[in-house]
Amino acid sequence: MKNTVISMQQQKIDKDKITVLTAYDYSTAKLMDQAGINALLVGDSLGMVMLGYEDTLSVTMDDMIHHSKAVARGAGQAMVVTDLPFMSYQVSVQDALYNAGRLVKEGRAHAVKLEGGEEVCPQISAITQAAIPVMAHLGLTPQSVNAFGGFKVQGRDLDAAWKIIQSALAVEKAGAFAVVLECVPAKLAGLISSLLSIPTIGIGAGAGCDGQVLVYQDMTGMYGGHSPKFAKKFVDIGEHMKAAFGQYIQQTKNGEFPALEHTFTIDDEIIEKLKQ
Ligand code: KIV
Ligand code: NA
Repeated sequence: MKNTVISMQQQKIDKDKITVLTAYDYSTAKLMDQAGINALLVGDSLGMVMLGYEDTLSVTMDDMIHHSKAVARGAGQAMVVTDLPFMSYQVSVQDALYNAGRLVKEGRAHAVKLEGGEEVCPQISAITQAAIPVMAHLGLTPQSVNAFGGFKVQGRDLDAAWKIIQSALAVEKAGAFAVVLECVPAKLAGLISSLLSIPTIGIGAGAGCDGQVLVYQDMTGMYGGHSPKFAKKFVDIGEHMKAAFGQYIQQTKNGEFPALEHTFTIDDEIIEKLKQ
């Protein structure tokens, strides 16, 4: 069965946890889809994990479309949600609508995600009215890294926690179909999840959320850089890959690879004639 905004809403009602992973390419998206993931998030985190930037601020609409297209080709049953990158929706509602449209038309996304609360509610409402579902994103919103002074937990004091609750209620009212809660205290995320009728998708926000999302490279150990506390490593593929690359180098140098079984044959007679 295909995952949609409707099935995701039903999962919240049924207390069936929503599973989301980031994906940036066809092959990985296909594997996640086959494993039964509910949604694939083409996150602007691709700027960091795929393109090697220090933050997500340099990611362009063209970057997002390029990766979204690839993920969409690999998605069968999973819903594809693609991030609106930094400055593609903040300037105006018109920009937001136009760029959300591009992510659907060109990137083949089923929904878009943007960061922020009350300040982006006009955008959420306009995009939703154009029949493009919007996932909101609160707490540690990485596009605000410079305003936050780094990647840090959000909503720990009374004022900040209250503000996140108000923002969550506001994005729901504006029409968002779900909201990502990133790096907020678990009890606050649990409280927000009980206050909202739309699903919450947590990352570093504890088990009280209606669903979870993780960055693919973090949960597979493929990203060499700093790994946040919440990024459980389910496997260390990075180490396996490094070992395989090392073996390839060694076996190529010592002549063990390629072996006979990896090669194609030709009649010796032909070779003899060629040598003459
Ligand atoms: O870009 C991303 O990967 C995200 C998730 C961490 C929610 O926005
Ligand atoms: Na993102």
